[in-house]
Amino acid sequence: MGTLEKVIQIYNLTDDDISNLASLKDLAKKNANSFVEELHKFISNFDNYSKFLSSEEIKNRHKEKLKLWFLDLFNAQFNEDYLRKIKKIGEVHAQIGLPSHYVSATMNFIRSFLHSIVLENYDVYHRQEELKLSIDKILDINLDIMTSSYIDENQFYVAKSKIETNIVRLSSRLSYFFDVGLVSLLVLTSLLIFFLFVSDIFKFLLNSNSSFEHTVINILGAMLILWTVRELLEEEVKRLKGKKFALNVFISLAMAALLRKILIFSLEPQKSEEVAILGLLVLVLGIVYWLMNLSEQKKQ
Ligand code: HEM
Repeated sequence: MGTLEKVIQIYNLTDDDISNLASLKDLAKKNANSFVEELHKFISNFDNYSKFLSSEEIKNRHKEKLKLWFLDLFNAQFNEDYLRKIKKIGEVHAQIGLPSHYVSATMNFIRSFLHSIVLENYDVYHRQEELKLSIDKILDINLDIMTSSYIDENQFYVAKSKIETNIVRLSSRLSYFFDVGLVSLLVLTSLLIFFLFVSDIFKFLLNSNSSFEHTVINILGAMLILWTVRELLEEEVKRLKGKKFALNVFISLAMAALLRKILIFSLEPQKSEEVAILGLLVLVLGIVYWLMNLSEQKKQ
């Protein structure tokens, strides 16, 4: 699902909302000048107002752009271009180091300003509520996208151009197919390993010559691999559900494979050199695994 569709779905922005907003367009035009003046009066109370809007020229530019943004709310053009514009505003604010709570507080002021316009110009309670609800939705969407420039995780991704949107859409579909393919292959691998595990037991039961020690080691090795493939499968399924992939599961899979070899070779005295090399590799992987877990814990 693209970002536009996601936003529409999450905020339940309906065609009725869009037409409610469009119906307020003339009223918005009439009040646009008083909106920018009152808003600037409101934000002039913030500490650092003069630091951010440091000259008359910058203040006037902000007022002009603010007016365009305000009128856009009622333009009935809710598309990718619109999201890009909002994202850009958020980026400009983030670049100048504007605290995000200033934006949230200002949005609260804008909400009250618009609600009071509705209450002054509409008598029917039901209509007032409908219009206020649509206003709340568009302002919440604006706030969400603007402040997402301040946060790294879970932000709405808004591409900078249409080509980028198409490329991202295509690659995310491809990546989804690869993920589904990987999960299917992993299921197949787990089944094969399970088969190996069962066949080792059968071989031992049917063949009285096979060594008990060898069979136990083989079964243990197969169990080890089965356990790590299961972990890998779980991580891949989590990734399909949109969570991050834990790379350290790959390291544990490699360690399990090496440990299995060590277990098998340990029964053959002439392979002691190989066992030592494999042991060293497991040690290196163990250190990498430990370092990765350590950095994950620090991030939390
Ligand atoms: C919801 C609240 C706000 C909205 C909708 C808004 C809107 C905008 C817009 C449309 C721009 C132009 C972005 C561009 O160049 O593409 C902008 C830039 C800017 N905003 Fe805001 N703004 C808000 C709050 C604030 C606050 C609270 C401050 C400071 C106290 C502020 C300071 C600035 C500054 C300094 C710029 C860059 C101006 C320039 O150099 O052109 N904004 N804002």
